[in-house]
Amino acid sequence: MLGNVYLCGPPGAGKSSVAPLLAALWHGEAVDVDALIEAADGRPIARIVEEDGEPAFRARERATIAALAQRENLVVALGAGALEFAENRRAVEASGVTVFLDASLETCERRTARQNGTRPLLREPGALARLHAARRPRYLGAAIRVSADDEWPQGVALAIEARLNDARAPARGGERTVRVKTAKPYDVVIGENAVRDIAERVRPRAGGRVAVIADERVGAVAEIVEAAYAAAGFAVSVTRVRADEALKSMDGLAMLYGALVEARVDRRGIVVGVGGGTIGDAVGFAAATFQRGVPYAGVPTTLLAAVDAAIGGKTAINLPSGKNMVGTVTQPAHVAIAPEALHGLDERDKLSGYGEMLKYGLALDAQLYRTMRENERAIVSDPAHALDVIARCVELKAESVARDEEDRTGLRALLNFGHTVGHALERVAGYGALRHGEAVIVGMRAALAISARCAALDEREREDADVHLAGLPVPESWRDLDAEAIVAATHSDKKRHAGGTQYVVLDAIGSSRLHDGVTDDDVRAALREIGLR
Ligand SMILES: NC(=O)c1ccc[n+]([C@@H]2O[C@H](COP(=O)([O-])OP(=O)(O)OC[C@H]3O[C@@H](n4cnc5c(N)ncnc54)[C@H](O)[C@@H]3O)[C@@H](O)[C@H]2O)c1
Ligand SMILES: [Zn+2]
Repeated sequence: MLGNVYLCGPPGAGKSSVAPLLAALWHGEAVDVDALIEAADGRPIARIVEEDGEPAFRARERATIAALAQRENLVVALGAGALEFAENRRAVEASGVTVFLDASLETCERRTARQNGTRPLLREPGALARLHAARRPRYLGAAIRVSADDEWPQGVALAIEARLNDARAPARGGERTVRVKTAKPYDVVIGENAVRDIAERVRPRAGGRVAVIADERVGAVAEIVEAAYAAAGFAVSVTRVRADEALKSMDGLAMLYGALVEARVDRRGIVVGVGGGTIGDAVGFAAATFQRGVPYAGVPTTLLAAVDAAIGGKTAINLPSGKNMVGTVTQPAHVAIAPEALHGLDERDKLSGYGEMLKYGLALDAQLYRTMRENERAIVSDPAHALDVIARCVELKAESVARDEEDRTGLRALLNFGHTVGHALERVAGYGALRHGEAVIVGMRAALAISARCAALDEREREDADVHLAGLPVPESWRDLDAEAIVAATHSDKKRHAGGTQYVVLDAIGSSRLHDGVTDDDVRAALREIGLR
């Protein structure tokens, strides 16, 4: 039980129109704090503030919120200033979930213009802009944030409902389940027992067998999976393979098919891949194509795979002519992420995963970015204990994947923030010289510089994030790479179209979009700015 749902946000975010729609979806009752005060008093808020003063109004607001906090199953539209007061924050936090309706200043201006005069605190010129900026940090403390620029309030209500359902999913010992709502939905379970309990979550059909294919470096995790299925009475075989880039080749694939034949697995069974992104890509591809497709479950053992590669269904092998040239989009049946699987990663793989995690914050969620930055040491030294932040990244990946399963609408592309230059660096440096996430860290620095030049990113915000990224211990060798070779390599990015390469740019931290107008000169300038020699 989550108690009440509290909607907060600036004036014009749509709290009052979304509340009844969400209440209908949520089988709750909608209440509007300002409307309750007006009904009890008989005067509109504007007159209460004018005649009795703001402190008197705030006292009534406090009493109203305190009374609502005693009830359950309400969808409460809070006044825009309510959360400025600690007493209100405590009441709200203790009795439910807070949802931030995040609407841009332009949206709020447009919507409040329609109700001119009824909002006493907005009469001064520029007042809305000031409130919008000043209160944002407070709203960002909400457990859930949804974009509220949509002029269709039902859409906003549906988005909130989806997030509430995730939050309401049964939790066991701090365990989280993120549902990936693709055509065929599946769960990503994150928690201490996620791997140990895997046989309870995903099973072969009658007569089916389990084939575990594991990176030889994570033998202990493979044993846990094996024991889980054996204890549940299934026939299970384990194959250990060397998980380097050579596995993602025609020869590697032939070997994997051989292992599946030997394991006598068929379409009633399941293939479980235990390892990092290399295992996910290669074993996922083998499962997706063997006998026209055997269900696949992923047990990611690198941070990078846990927050990214294991979710979304992209599988691939390489051709001599290029990386990931042959592949499928085949969603897994299940993903299990447990801390015990993430132990033993070397320093560079941890940093690489942290780099990949930062893209979620920088591109989509400013609050997440701040949390990751504040907890950088803890996450990088022991990612296994950062399950909360991992879960948030998984949630963001799951949302983008569900809304853009086939990677067509551009939504999923936002997760390529920093990747155009990042991929180019990996390629020019020679694959393997830089870890993927290390290249992405440098690529994100370039993308920040590009965003300051070509989008609305504030120079101060750019510098602040850049100082952070530049301080991460990425090997310095990239500085000696040839700028022209990097620029040329960005041209082969998959996001290339007739007019140029499409970049993910930021208008602010956490707010990204695709942009077509980035020129080679912009990229050159960005590379110079971040210190390419
Ligand atoms: N499908 C996607 O969406 C997607 C996304 C990103 C990357 N990828 C692919 O993922 C691959 C990179 O993935 P990765 O970074 O996870 O690397 P990886 O799977 O190659 O693993 C990196 C190294 O860590 C070892 N390792 C794995 N788990 C370990 C553990 N728990 N303890 C100790 N060592 C461990 C591996 O043996 C390997 O040497 C690339 O092939 C990339 O193309 C795919
Ligand atoms: Zn990546």
